[in-house]
Amino acid sequence: MTEYQEKYDKYLAEFESTLNNFCDGICCKPEKLAESLKYSLQSGGKRLRPILMLAVGELLGVDSKIIKNYALALELIHTYSLIHDDLPEMDNDDYRRGRLTNHKVFGAGNAVLAGDGLMNTAYSLLFGECFKGNDYVSAAKFICDCAGIDGMIAGQSADLEHENDLTVNENVLNFIYENKTAKLLIAAVVVPSILCGGKYYSELKTFGSVLGNLFQLTDDILDVEGNFDQLGKSIGKDSAEGKYTGVRLYGLDGCKVRADMLADKCTGILEKFDGDTSFLKDLVFFVRQRIY
Ligand code: IPE
Ligand code: IPE
Ligand code: MG
Ligand code: MG
Ligand code: MG
Repeated sequence: MTEYQEKYDKYLAEFESTLNNFCDGICCKPEKLAESLKYSLQSGGKRLRPILMLAVGELLGVDSKIIKNYALALELIHTYSLIHDDLPEMDNDDYRRGRLTNHKVFGAGNAVLAGDGLMNTAYSLLFGECFKGNDYVSAAKFICDCAGIDGMIAGQSADLEHENDLTVNENVLNFIYENKTAKLLIAAVVVPSILCGGKYYSELKTFGSVLGNLFQLTDDILDVEGNFDQLGKSIGKDSAEGKYTGVRLYGLDGCKVRADMLADKCTGILEKFDGDTSFLKDLVFFVRQRIY
């Protein structure tokens, strides 16, 4: 096993234990609500955002105990965004993380509520941290803003607005990528910085943005070239739904050239850091080469 994989597994195990404890504590009624929340939370997923947060935390010397509820809240927000993203009125997807989508199992109404429930609970977790001091409030607000109407929601709204839009406009694609995807990755890497007084704040913000854009670019590539069994979600959906994607704008080969450029930019930013950035560099390489 490579050093990168060992570290990834260590962060993953740490996060899964936090998540499983949290899920064990979910006992809301009706039972179907509790079941639908756990169904989407405990169905795997790469946990990229919490792992990034833990890795940057370690690089900056922030104790993972301080970070864990922020990582949990962020994964709850990400999972809610996926449940809503898959709804028939949005991307209309039947599979997610290798199993039927939340609405396919529990119905669309319950899936809307499961998403709402995860979002509310994420904010409750974040409020719970705010009693500890000003930096904790700033970190919580940062996540809210990244997820909100000038962040992920804006990107999702633009994604819908530009369905079947046949113009070729790089600014539109950049807006969609930056908001629907990069903002939550920015949150993942900037929160540890806020929690230690702003170390490498602007470098991390740029790193999160470029990595987020790379991540969505490889997601768009995988929608064409990926494999259902590895990805755990249907492929070919973007063109079927008329999505405004990198593949439509740059072509498949153009996307790959651009992806290499973005990956280089990410590793270039990491050169500016003191300390061991080898895990983050390998993670950039994983995002560039990923098949799931
Ligand atoms: C999928 O995110 C949605 C995008 C932003 C492309 P992930 O690929 O991180 O999904 P999981 O959490 O691993 O299932
Ligand atoms: C989803 O982008 C981004 C968010 C959920 C915020 P996509 O719609 O491309 O993600 P997948 O391909 O369904 O995972
Ligand atoms: Mg979508
Ligand atoms: Mg989708
Ligand atoms: Mg996609």
